[in-house]
Amino acid sequence: MKAIYLIGFMGTGKTTISHALGEHLNVPVTDCDEAIVQYAGKSIPRIFEEEGEQGFRDIEQQTLRQLHAENHIVATGGGVVLREENRAHMKKNGIIIWLEASTEEILKRLDSDKTRPLLTGGDMAERIQTLFDARKELYEGTAHMRIDTTGKAKDEIVHEILSHLDEYDV
Ligand code: S3P
Repeated sequence: MKAIYLIGFMGTGKTTISHALGEHLNVPVTDCDEAIVQYAGKSIPRIFEEEGEQGFRDIEQQTLRQLHAENHIVATGGGVVLREENRAHMKKNGIIIWLEASTEEILKRLDSDKTRPLLTGGDMAERIQTLFDARKELYEGTAHMRIDTTGKAKDEIVHEILSHLDEYDV
């Protein structure tokens, strides 16, 4: 099996869905953000604080490249699509599934979150909207499959993904 990459904005459920999908398909799961923290030896907010966003993106790119590219499900960070190298790597190695959710739902899920440096300070709804608008085309242009998770239960989302997976050469 090729790799399955889950992409999408923060708070769209990439980590949760990757594990549920991994259980159904009996395939190991890797969370790119977790691998970054292990590789860097510090938390994501600390990486942003000490090395800035571009420093984080460098580590993210290196980490993604080192992850298994076969028989694996990879939950990526929301900004992975920002670099062309990452988009090309994922396209070359797997099927890319874009998880979407409405801004309201993302806001609800991340309301009290302090672990995402790009959303801290200022008006969170505004930040979500601005970042999402800047990335929407990248998600759209990179994904093979698009799944709206708004108002759906985990099992429903997994079922929807599985029902479409046959259409692809996984
Ligand atoms: C980011 C998303 C985060 C994490 C980092 C940057 C982004 O991952 O990689 O805070 O730029 O959208 P999640 O999408 O898992 O929250």
